[in-house]
Amino acid sequence: MTAPLLSVRDLRTWFHTFAGTVKAVNGVSFDLAPGEVMGLVGESGGGKSVVGFSILGLIDPPGRIEGGQILFNGEDLASASEDRLRRIRGREIGMVFQDPMTSLNPVQTVGAQMDEVLRLHTDLDAAARKARCIEMLESVGISQAADRLRAYPHQFSGGMRQRVVIAIAMLARPRLLIADEPTTALDVTIQAQILRLMRRRIAEDGASMILVTHDLAVVAEMVDRVTVLYCGKVVESGPVRQVIDTPAHPYTRGLIDSIPNPAHRLPRLKQIPGTVPDVRALPAGCAFRARCPRAQAICATDAPALRPHRGEQSAACHFPVAPGEPA
Ligand SMILES: Nc1ncnc2c1ncn2[C@@H]1O[C@H](COP(=O)(O)OP(=O)(O)OP(=O)(O)O)[C@@H](O)[C@H]1O
Ligand SMILES: [Mg+2]
Repeated sequence: MTAPLLSVRDLRTWFHTFAGTVKAVNGVSFDLAPGEVMGLVGESGGGKSVVGFSILGLIDPPGRIEGGQILFNGEDLASASEDRLRRIRGREIGMVFQDPMTSLNPVQTVGAQMDEVLRLHTDLDAAARKARCIEMLESVGISQAADRLRAYPHQFSGGMRQRVVIAIAMLARPRLLIADEPTTALDVTIQAQILRLMRRRIAEDGASMILVTHDLAVVAEMVDRVTVLYCGKVVESGPVRQVIDTPAHPYTRGLIDSIPNPAHRLPRLKQIPGTVPDVRALPAGCAFRARCPRAQAICATDAPALRPHRGEQSAACHFPVAPGEPA
């Protein structure tokens, strides 16, 4: 196997709040190969965004990376200097945040904002920078890009602004793009279209992507591999088709069963019972056990480790679901 571009090892990112320690990310490990697209999924509060912010070195007090490694091309970002991280962000690792409407400056033209990124992160001259900006806007589906460079963010529709944000994230041709719910604010039809454009652009650059989403339908279409987070831990990971067709962890199965299936005349919507527990006071054993139809006595005392399940699929469960087994 080729060396991973990114190797996250036993990452722990905690927030020390007055109300207690939030172990938002608590022992997360995964590898990302060059050119690979990984989906990071799970319910709200699972730790998806905190994983992304940790990789980018954007955890502020009361948050702290307590332990583990974030090896990017072999360099540990968890212990890199702020200076080094600033150089890596934007140039080698691009990012699209969960709330992208706040990432554009309202009083600068789109062209000026794009040009600034390239001046900061490349040696291109003014003409080459402009050409790159036009090319990138076109590649995310913005026509008459040369004219649009002179426009301000408010002169774009929401969907077009979102394309601009994505174009900026990819402008310096980063080797890794972290996209945190990049299209959640948009119409469903536009979401798929923009995600496909991103995916194509990533493939053309030979870059890798972490796509953070709670939408398993998006994951099924867009990613190669999927990592499922629950209460700050990886509960399942593997090739996307295998995980979606034959999920091993009861939590993953619950997520998949709650996708509306247009093939069924009646919506067969099952909800995972119960709610995500408070991560400040997680009980011993498996964090999912109170909601789990398969839980037994051992689940209350022993937290299951992530173990190989079948092929490249791993699960952290004492009683993983076998392929073909009914729910
Ligand atoms: N600055 C902070 N201070 C305290 N707790 C935080 C902070 N940021 C995140 N958390 C907590 O960390 C946990 C994980 O949050 P995170 O934002 O990573 O979830 P998520 O999986 O991205 O959820 P969503 O799908 O809603 O975006 C949550 O319990 C959240 O409340
Ligand atoms: Mg989030």
